[in-house]
Amino acid sequence: MSTVAVVTGAASGIGRATAVWLARDGYEVAMMDLDAAGLAGTRAQIEGAGGKAHEFAMDLCDPLAVGSTTREIAVTIGAPEVLVNVAGVGVAATVLETSDEDWSRVLAVNLTGPFLTTRATLPLMLDRGSGVIVNIASVGGLVGLSRRAAYCASKAGLIGLTKAIAVDHAREGIRCVAICPGTVETEWVGKILANAADPAAARNAMAARQLDGRMGTPDEIAAMVSFVAGPDGRFVNGAALVIDGGMTAA
Ligand SMILES: NC(=O)c1ccc[n+]([C@@H]2O[C@H](COP(=O)([O-])OP(=O)(O)OC[C@H]3O[C@@H](n4cnc5c(N)ncnc54)[C@H](O)[C@@H]3O)[C@@H](O)[C@H]2O)c1
Repeated sequence: MSTVAVVTGAASGIGRATAVWLARDGYEVAMMDLDAAGLAGTRAQIEGAGGKAHEFAMDLCDPLAVGSTTREIAVTIGAPEVLVNVAGVGVAATVLETSDEDWSRVLAVNLTGPFLTTRATLPLMLDRGSGVIVNIASVGGLVGLSRRAAYCASKAGLIGLTKAIAVDHAREGIRCVAICPGTVETEWVGKILANAADPAAARNAMAARQLDGRMGTPDEIAAMVSFVAGPDGRFVNGAALVIDGGMTAA
């Protein structure tokens, strides 16, 4: 059986780039996302390059769907060696502007989702005695970002979850690592820019947040996932790795 990697949020942006990169590394990739059409696009890209990918259109906030899909992956493709939690959502709001619904949705996708996938996948990794879980957090989990109250809380929680998993399971052959990107040019950021009063000015402002004066690319994040998940990353555990073009250095 092939070495299996599960990637959530694989229909778009960082998740798509990660799925494509890991398939190129030789993993058979099982992809979870709400967006069936986007998943089909990622699969076509992977298969076009000679890789293997499987689509699972589902809601990562649904514990039953996460449990049954993980079991299906284990039986039909193989027990995952790597789990990359990428799916996420954000709301532009201070605490005072955040509705109950938005708070619950952001926490559910960004924090409960990785908890559910990890809880479903860890027993399979523990049976084999090895596994790597990579959580895509954000610099927003380390510093406060303006009008991103629920988002920052969810990503700080995800970094805490990452460290707790590493502490509990390191001696059983499991590594768990968070990656904290700065601003990355994805479909998500494209939508934010399209909705801005002055999209060109908004783009310049977003680029200027990084010392490099540009946004990162999804491939730059996928490359770090590949390193962390692979054998060269074996001494990385429980860390929150920052990849932000110097955004948080200033
Ligand atoms: N783009 C950035 O600047 C940036 C910076 C730091 C961190 N991140 C993080 O990287 C991750 C990916 O961001 P992106 O910019 O690629 O976003 P994106 O919107 O392009 O992709 C997110 C994917 O998650 C999926 N998704 C959302 N809710 C879901 C659910 N309930 N169930 C299943 N799938 C769901 C979406 O369908 C989408 O395909 C997110 O966790 C985000 O917080 C992004």
